[in-house]
Amino acid sequence: MNYKISVIDGDGIGPEVCAAAIAVLNAAGKKSGHKFEFSHVLMGGAAIDACGEPLPKKTVEICKKSGAALLGAVGGPKWDGLPGHLRPEAGLLRIRKALGLYANIRPAILLDALKETCPLRADIRDGGIDIVVVRELTGGIYFGKRNTVSRKNGNDYAYDTEKYSVKEIERIAEKAFEIAKKRKKKIVSVDKANVLDSSRLWRRTVRKMSAEYPDIEVTDMLVDNAAMQLVKNPSQFDVVLTGNMFGDILSDEAAMITGSIGILASASLGKGRFGLYEPIHGSAPDIAGTDRANPIATVLSAAMMLRTSFDLDAEAAAVERAVNAVLKKNIRTADIKENGSEIVGCKRMGEAIAEEILR
Ligand code: IPM
Ligand code: MG
Repeated sequence: MNYKISVIDGDGIGPEVCAAAIAVLNAAGKKSGHKFEFSHVLMGGAAIDACGEPLPKKTVEICKKSGAALLGAVGGPKWDGLPGHLRPEAGLLRIRKALGLYANIRPAILLDALKETCPLRADIRDGGIDIVVVRELTGGIYFGKRNTVSRKNGNDYAYDTEKYSVKEIERIAEKAFEIAKKRKKKIVSVDKANVLDSSRLWRRTVRKMSAEYPDIEVTDMLVDNAAMQLVKNPSQFDVVLTGNMFGDILSDEAAMITGSIGILASASLGKGRFGLYEPIHGSAPDIAGTDRANPIATVLSAAMMLRTSFDLDAEAAAVERAVNAVLKKNIRTADIKENGSEIVGCKRMGEAIAEEILR
C-alpha cells in the first residue's frame, strides 16, 4: 500500500531528526512492501522566514490530504522577539487546533537498555516506569483569552486564561479511559483543584465519568504532588490524565526519568485516524546543525504513526525492536551515553536503526 505523510521539518534540530525518522520509515517500508510518500511542508520559524507567517494555509491543506503528519520541532532564538501570535510556536498551536487534535498521547517507558541513564536511584528505577501521559491539547490556558496591557504609569500587566468546558474534559477523559482499558486500568487525573475553578470542574467531570468505567481505578492528584510522585515513586503511575499546561510540564519530567528528553515520542490525535506525530523535545538551537541530536523520539513517534494512523502494527513493532536492539548494542547519541558507548550522531543513529530493521 501507499501511505501519504506530511513532514513538518520545522526549526533547529527538526530537519535532522525528521531525516533520520524518514530513513527508518523507508527501511520499514522496504521490509514490508509498503511505500511511504513524503510531502515536506512549512511551519514555525521556517515558515515565518519563507512566507511571513508561522502556519501557511497550504500546510494545513496538505496535512489534511495525508494520512498522518510527522513533526520535528519548532522555535528558536531568532524568532523570540516576535509578538506571541507570530512566533513559531503559534504555528504549532494553530495546526493542532485546525486539525482538531485535542488528545496528545505521550508514552514514557524506561527501556531496559537505558536503565543506567535513568537519573533516579536504582531502588526507585527498578520498580519500572511505564506511563502514558494523556494531555489535553487544544484547550486550557494555551488557548484562553490573553492580553498584555500597557499603562501610562509603566506598571503594565498581562494575563492568560485557563478555561475548560465539560465537553472538552469529557472527550479527553474518554481517550484516557479507552487507553487505560488496554493497560493496567489505573488513571491518575492531575489538576490543581485546591485553587482553580477549572480544575474543580475537571475533577467533578472525570469523577462522574468514572462511574461508566467501573473496572478502571481513578485517583485524583494535585499537580504539585504529581510532580513529586513522578520522581519519588514513578512505578505507581499507569495512565496520567491532565490538561494542556500541566501535561506539557509533567511530560518533560516523565521523559527525563526515562533517560532523556530525546527519546519520548507523542501522538496528537482527534476523532479520526489522522495524527500529528511529534517528539516532545524542542528545537535545541544550541546543537542544531551539528549532527548531535537524538532522533529516537522522532523515530518512536513514527512508530506510533504506523500503528495508530496506518494500522501497521507489525511494522511499528519492528521499528521499536530495532531501536531497542541498537541501544542494547550500546550505540548511543551523546545525551544517553554510558560507559563504553559507541557515540554516534543523529544521522548515523537513524541509519543504525534502519539497518537493524533490514537485517
Ligand atoms: C510540546 C512543546 C510545545 C507545547 C511548544 C513548542 C509550543 O513544548 O509539545 O510539549 O508547549 O505544547
Ligand atoms: Mg513541552
